Amino acid sequence: MKRNIGNYNAAFPTPVVVVGSMVDGKPNWFEVAWVGIGDKDIVTLSVTPSHKTCEGIRATGRLSIALVDEALMQRADYVGIVSGKKVDKSEVFDWTAGDLGAPIPTDAPVVMECELLDTYTQHGMNLLICKVKNTYAEESLLDEKGKIDYGKLKPILFEPRFNYLLTGHIVSPCIEPGKAYK
Ligand SMILES: Cc1cc2nc3c(=O)[nH]c(=O)nc-3n(C[C@H](O)[C@H](O)[C@H](O)COP(=O)(O)O)c2cc1C
Repeated sequence: MKRNIGNYNAAFPTPVVVVGSMVDGKPNWFEVAWVGIGDKDIVTLSVTPSHKTCEGIRATGRLSIALVDEALMQRADYVGIVSGKKVDKSEVFDWTAGDLGAPIPTDAPVVMECELLDTYTQHGMNLLICKVKNTYAEESLLDEKGKIDYGKLKPILFEPRFNYLLTGHIVSPCIEPGKAYK
């Protein structure tokens, strides 16, 4: 029997990402877990507008969104608990500039360089609508068709009791189980 646990958003786990933008000529990074998919090339981020990284996103209209694997988890967590308003986080990740000028962390396995398309404000939060312009992925994580193999990448996910989960186990291809039913 189910219990009604109220208006609890259960649409988790979500991917944990490190978001980067240039602020006054230096990269600033923060961790975001309220991540969604808007369309094939649209990623949504729900962010607190007062974060320092958001200043750079607003000023440049560019940002990077990096998936986090286990090797990156500690630094991702760090940039999620310390603000660039208090501590210089620019050297937490080595980086290069992407084609659009957003900072691309070198050690992140997959990084999307995005353009900020739109911002919706609700309940004091900003929903950033981000268009993916370039995706930089480690060669070793690509399959023979050049697509990211999420069995190899093993991204870290977030669950709302504040735990990180590890993925990487493919239980079935899509479409086949549905076809086999009845
Ligand atoms: C696990 C975790 C998830 C987080 N998810 C978000 C998020 O989805 N949106 C957000 O605005 N802040 C999120 N934060 C908080 C920011 O990453 C944090 O306040 C950061 O220090 C802001 O840095 P900045 O001011 O240098 O930009 C998260 C923090 C942690 C530890």
